[in-house]
Amino acid sequence: MDPPAGIVASPAAAVLVVVAVSTSEEAALSARLVVLVSGTGTNLQALLDASLDPRFGAQVVAVGADRDGVEGLARARRAGVPTFVVKVSEDSSRDDWDARLTRSVAEHAPDLVISAGFMRIVGKRFLDRFPMVNTHPALLPAFPGTHAVRDALDYGVRVTGCTVHLVDAGVDTGAVIAQRAVAVFEDDDEAALHERIKTLERELLVDVVGRMAREGWTVSGRKVTIP
Ligand code: GRF
Repeated sequence: MDPPAGIVASPAAAVLVVVAVSTSEEAALSARLVVLVSGTGTNLQALLDASLDPRFGAQVVAVGADRDGVEGLARARRAGVPTFVVKVSEDSSRDDWDARLTRSVAEHAPDLVISAGFMRIVGKRFLDRFPMVNTHPALLPAFPGTHAVRDALDYGVRVTGCTVHLVDAGVDTGAVIAQRAVAVFEDDDEAALHERIKTLERELLVDVVGRMAREGWTVSGRKVTIP
């Protein structure tokens, strides 16, 4: 299988080297981001806001969702960014859904796909085609899955945080790119803790995506390096 565009695999395939996908000087050479959302889209909004500065080196060229009517899609429309929806409908298999999602994303020729609150697992076909980054509201490998903030609170941890990682075939198992820690307060409930995590999560996502776009990245085993 050929690596995704922009990626050069070493002969041993142990090291992936991704050349920078944009330069900061020319917006025309900005990395093309497709962002996938399922909900509110505040992480998307942070990327949309960052894209307004050409020095960011990346622009959101489309936003996709697995459901209609979410605020993330409205944010994209307000920013003048094309949107698409690929639902997991009852009459199609997961593989059909994955194929449709892959086609819809490919139409926008992304250099990088960002899963920003996208509550679906994509398949091998999708991952063979596009490099993908996810943001997760816990310090992986602790508390993977959909209820990370609740699970961390229930466990009684005193520190949690957020993780930006490459997506692989597992659930929140891809190589970690960057993490930030957040203290858990005595009186935290899930909503309050999640809100504090998301404040850092947005900053981290923008920082990581911008650096990946401007400088490229290398993957060696589970170690991701942005030069
Ligand atoms: C984020 O905390 C993300 O990590 C999690 O869902 C939240 C999405 O927030 N999967 P938003 O939709 O970007 O506001």
